[in-house]
Amino acid sequence: MIPEIVGFITRREGRKFHSLNTVDDSLAKAERLVKRDGISLYVHIPFCRSLCPFCCFNRYLFQEDLARRYFIDLKQELETYRRLGFSFEDVYFGGGTPTVLMDELGDFIGQLRKQFKIKQISLETTPRELSEQNIKLLNEYGINRLSIGVQSFDEQILKTMGRVNGPAEEVKDRLLMCQGQFDTLNVDFLFNFPGQTTEQFAADVAIFKQLGIDQATFYPLMPSPHKKDDLERRFSRVDNYHEKNFYEIILRELYHGDFTPSTAWCFSRGERMIDEYIIESDDYIGIGSGSVSIVGGNFYVNSFSLDRYHELIVSGRLPIVGWRGLSEKEKRRYYLLTKLFGLKLDKEAFRRRFGGDIGSQLRLEMAFFRSFGLVSGNNILHVTEKGMYPVSVMMREFFAALNTLREYYIEHQI
Ligand SMILES: C[S@@+](CC[C@H](N)C(=O)[O-])C[C@H]1O[C@@H](n2cnc3c(N)ncnc32)[C@H](O)[C@@H]1O
Ligand code: SF4
Repeated sequence: MIPEIVGFITRREGRKFHSLNTVDDSLAKAERLVKRDGISLYVHIPFCRSLCPFCCFNRYLFQEDLARRYFIDLKQELETYRRLGFSFEDVYFGGGTPTVLMDELGDFIGQLRKQFKIKQISLETTPRELSEQNIKLLNEYGINRLSIGVQSFDEQILKTMGRVNGPAEEVKDRLLMCQGQFDTLNVDFLFNFPGQTTEQFAADVAIFKQLGIDQATFYPLMPSPHKKDDLERRFSRVDNYHEKNFYEIILRELYHGDFTPSTAWCFSRGERMIDEYIIESDDYIGIGSGSVSIVGGNFYVNSFSLDRYHELIVSGRLPIVGWRGLSEKEKRRYYLLTKLFGLKLDKEAFRRRFGGDIGSQLRLEMAFFRSFGLVSGNNILHVTEKGMYPVSVMMREFFAALNTLREYYIEHQI
């Protein structure tokens, strides 16, 4: 019952992100962007060598000419933010597949390092991209955290997912080639995929533990409405009735194992870097087609269309096509959601940010979390074991709402 309640409320809150103002003059709107030093930067590379049917991110089939043009635009967008007075320290490359053009990636990272004092870089890729040559280059580019989307080692499930990874043994060898080469090596898994059994998922978790890799992130399936219909047409019902059974395996094998939970989905051996910039930074800028930003209590969306993104950039504007100012209540709730997802909330930091006590500013929410034993502690609130699954559900619903927004923007090429 508790997960259903928090899920329902988050879904309702998440939908508010759907009604965005359109932007006529994005540079004028950029004046609303509060300049901050040392905030996080997310860089989206929307190209993949094959398209996975379940994926809701902005991604297109790789075409070299389009991708080269894209990297030029990306540098221009970065430069616009620099001119507006922004500076960045932590950078996250996501996708799509950021390694589709290694020379362009290296060039872009070179520009980043020339213009800003970059502290750490996290980058996502797929097992197919892990050649010796690419690993060497990623090292040379100074990637601190490499995150590899494995999704599953089960070849049957991968086939169901429409995911092209190559044979499981080869994937394992490639992962082991990366181990020890980066400060943090992460692998992503999907759970609650239609047709996936808890036994198959438990086997994936067991392989991850045997491999000795630093970190794993477990994503519950979060389909957008049309992706959900599509998956249901091809397989069976997509629902959340069994999701908790999958999550219990995560709790048993990782939470109660030798792993440190960094979020409700991410578990590490010791202290590791994570890629959830939305937890660690209150503000972040996303660049690239289909990125979102949160700055000074405003939410911004970049164009999802590669052509429109290009046109806006070459006309000297920011590629922002939608924005929304969050109300004070929404800002506090968003803060609560992201901090709980990161499993701890510092009440003093809340007071500094919002000028009041969380107990009075989010009275009902706090009473709910405390009375059901989902959080504990005084100055720092920690998510309890009982709170782990409800927090996972909250984030799943928030991302599902974002995926609905992504789908609309992609389908209408906004
Ligand atoms: C967007 S991908 C980018 C990295 C890389 N292209 C890959 O596939 O591994 C990052 C992660 O998002 C997760 N993901 C993608 N689509 C998802 C969905 N519909 N629901 C839940 N997680 C999803 C996958 O686990 C994936 O590893
Ligand atoms: S999951 Fe990764 S490889 Fe698959 S389409 Fe999405 S971004 Fe591309």
